[in-house]
Amino acid sequence: MSSTPKNKDSEPKFLDNTLRPSKWDEYIGQRGVKNNLRILLDAAGGRKQPPEHLLFYGPPGLGKTTLAHLIAQETRSQMKVTSGPAIEKIGDLASLLTNLSPGDILFIDEIHRLSKVIEEVLYPAMENGSLDIIIGKGPSARTIQLELPPFTLIAATTRIALLSSPLRSRFSGGVFRLEFYSEEEIQQILKRSAGLLKTNINADALAEIAQRSRYTPRTANYLLKRCRDFGQVNKKRELTKEIVEEALSLLEIDARGLTSSDRKILESIIMKFNGGPVGVNTLSAATSEESATIEEVYEPYLLQIGMLERTPRGRMATKAAYEHLGLPPPQDPQERLL
Ligand code: ADE
Repeated sequence: MSSTPKNKDSEPKFLDNTLRPSKWDEYIGQRGVKNNLRILLDAAGGRKQPPEHLLFYGPPGLGKTTLAHLIAQETRSQMKVTSGPAIEKIGDLASLLTNLSPGDILFIDEIHRLSKVIEEVLYPAMENGSLDIIIGKGPSARTIQLELPPFTLIAATTRIALLSSPLRSRFSGGVFRLEFYSEEEIQQILKRSAGLLKTNINADALAEIAQRSRYTPRTANYLLKRCRDFGQVNKKRELTKEIVEEALSLLEIDARGLTSSDRKILESIIMKFNGGPVGVNTLSAATSEESATIEEVYEPYLLQIGMLERTPRGRMATKAAYEHLGLPPPQDPQERLL
């Protein structure tokens, strides 16, 4: 593989691991999830068993993969990493499962992209550690059953609604939703990252990046690195609020962290569809953004900050969106009560 895997967003996903927390206690935020996992891991450890299967879901960049790595570290297990789209054939999954050692963790990212046929092979593997494979076709077909070593499946998805309920119900250890971080948590993450990157940054500059980070650690770290680059090229000894503002405006990231794509989506709803409601596929055609990207990447944050509303008839821009874009709010108050 020659290129860095990308997010649907413009931020490279695994550019490097320098900023990823390598210890449980370094992982900031997600307190509820961490507390529950702590009990689960300690209890399983006490019984000398691998933890039960876990599913993490939530918008991209909130630390699902990082959490899986930390679980592997806490349980002193080896972790094999793969993703839904990488498992194309039953043989791919069979090979992954049969190569596991007792107590290993199998991490499947983007599990919502697993095909139905493969999902069905996963059920017995998750439920009773057996791999059932059909050999041959028609009347001569036979099933062979292999016993797998005890293992933990950790899966992650940005699209929980696309998971079938039989699959969801097999995550017996729990299904955990990762939340957006608070601005204070993002500031803490940025402070740690600036230290690791040996970047001199003052408190106001840090707060400015945090404000534009979409409450998402991956975005925060990405913006910090771009500001560091900007400072370095312009020979600045310390990153100040003014330098950060200049660097981020060059990237077209506004005061609320909206990118040009976010603004294009909101402007399209307002200008082309009179504020909505508009269906996601229509919006996709109007903005040239994939529907899945709109739903997975842009929408969660716009919903979180109250600039977008999801209704049964489609997406609507809220009053806050009009205000943010400096556009006059809709005329008829009966028509738009958002
Ligand atoms: N980097 C990414 N997610 C993080 C988190 N939750 N805490 C600290 N650093 C992070």
